[in-house]
Amino acid sequence: MNERLTKIVRDLIAAAGKVLAENNVTREEYRQGVHYLAKVQADKELPLLIDVFLEHLVIKAEDHRGHNSAQAIEGPYFIEEVPWVESALKTAPGDEGEPLIVRGTVKEPDGATVKDATVFVWHSTPDGAYGGIHEGIPSEFYRGRLKTGADGKFEIATTLPVPYTIPDKGPVGALITMMGHHTWRPAHVHFKVRKDGFREFTTQAYFEGGKYVDDDVAGGIVDALIFPIQQEGKNKVLNVDFVLDPKTS
Ligand SMILES: [Fe+2]
Repeated sequence: MNERLTKIVRDLIAAAGKVLAENNVTREEYRQGVHYLAKVQADKELPLLIDVFLEHLVIKAEDHRGHNSAQAIEGPYFIEEVPWVESALKTAPGDEGEPLIVRGTVKEPDGATVKDATVFVWHSTPDGAYGGIHEGIPSEFYRGRLKTGADGKFEIATTLPVPYTIPDKGPVGALITMMGHHTWRPAHVHFKVRKDGFREFTTQAYFEGGKYVDDDVAGGIVDALIFPIQQEGKNKVLNVDFVLDPKTS
């Protein structure tokens, strides 16, 4: 018997039972819920449904246990095999988005910098799509990986991402609309950092004052993930610091 699995499933069922009782949920409503989930499954939106409503809670729980800086949801658009990049992400021809420089430092909890960490960076096109995911955008566009230098720093040039809507034509979009919410996420840059001896670190950076930054459909934003944008000449600059959690086992 898997004791951990058993406890988690039992606790989930108990929590669901509490919600059903408190809201006087009827058999008919329960049956509607089952039909809805069957439709979500048939439309291949089950991962979307669970990620939108629950992933941020898993991350919150993990952050609470560790010593890392704030993490964020990974979302469905991470790609493992992306080009190593030197100074800039590849952007689409004709991209007239504002030039953005992303600068970061990777650290240990005691402040020591982490050299030679692998940093994956990815974000949307100026149309809110993702390279290698959406039609017509090659996977090497708006994504890449690079290493931190001896000082734990990395820097990459790209263009400013924009807010985008999660898939909104299927049952998940319908549910969110029925709940009176929109399906938009604020503009953001995704990061994933890997280094031997540390737990993999996945986060996003949002822009201070950005549209939807206080009203994300995925509930994925905490204050520590909202960064001011600085202006340096013609470039916007995003400065981020990431703290990795040492692996304990
Ligand atoms: Fe995203």
